[in-house]
Amino acid sequence: MLSSYLQLNNVSLHLQEKQLLKNINLLVEPCEFVSLVGSSGSGKSTLLKLCSSLISPSSGNLSFKGKDFIEWDLLQLRREISYCFQAPVLFGATVLDNFKFPFELRNQKINLTRCHELLESFCLPEEIISQQNHQLSGGEKQRIALIRSLLFVPEILLLDEVTSALDASNTAIVEAQMMKLNRQGVTILWVTHDIAQSQRIATRTLEVEQGSLDFKADKLCMV
Ligand SMILES: Nc1ncnc2c1ncn2[C@@H]1O[C@H](COP(=O)(O)OP(=O)(O)OP(=O)(O)O)[C@@H](O)[C@H]1O
Ligand SMILES: [Mg+2]
Repeated sequence: MLSSYLQLNNVSLHLQEKQLLKNINLLVEPCEFVSLVGSSGSGKSTLLKLCSSLISPSSGNLSFKGKDFIEWDLLQLRREISYCFQAPVLFGATVLDNFKFPFELRNQKINLTRCHELLESFCLPEEIISQQNHQLSGGEKQRIALIRSLLFVPEILLLDEVTSALDASNTAIVEAQMMKLNRQGVTILWVTHDIAQSQRIATRTLEVEQGSLDFKADKLCMV
C-alpha cells in the first residue's frame, strides 16, 4: 500500500454522544503548506488535536511516515508533530521558564543564543525573556508559545489561529517566518478564519464544515 507522510483514514470522533468529526480522509505530503478554514465550532481545532495525538479517534486511524500513530512512541511523535494551541498555554512563571522546558525534556542545557535568535526573528525584545508570563499581552503570549515550539524545529507544525491576537505588521512577521520554515522543509497545517491570509500563505486550502472535510475551497484557491 502506498503510504504517505501524514495520513488520516476514515477518521471519526464522538465525544459525549456528539459527533465532532466524520469520516475524515486526508493525505498531507512533506513540505506542504495547508490552510484549514471553516466556521466556528466546525471542528478545526479538534482535527489539529487529532493530528498531534492529543486525542485519539473513535474510529479510523492516523499514520505518520507509514506508521500508525499507535505504534509511535508518544513523546517522539509529539516532537515530530508539534501543535500550537489556539489559546496559548504558558508554563512556569516567566518567559525563560517556557524556553527552558523543551531543553529540559531533552536533558539539555538551555541554548540562549537560539532563544535570542528566535526572539529577534519575531521582532520581540531580548529583555522579554525575564518577563513574568502574566505581564505579557495576548499577542506576546501567542508568539512566546510559538517560539517555544520552534526551539527544536518539528517536522510538522500545526498552527491554530496563532495570529488571532496580532496586528497586521506582526501578523506579516509571523507569516514570513512560517513561510521561511516551510521553504526549509517544515510541513505546515494552519487554521485561520482569515481567508486572505489563507490565500497568501497556503498552497492548499481545505474547509471543515460540521465535522467533515470539504475540498471545495482547495479548488477555489487553484482558480
Ligand atoms: N472535549 C469536548 N467535549 C465535547 N465537545 C467538544 C469538546 N471539544 C470540542 N467540542 C465541540 O466540538 C465542536 C468543534 O470544536 P472545535 O474547537 O474543533 O471547533 P473550531 O472549528 O476550532 O472552532 P473555532 O473556530 O471557534 O475555534 C464544537 O461544537 C465544540 O463545542
Ligand atoms: Mg478552534
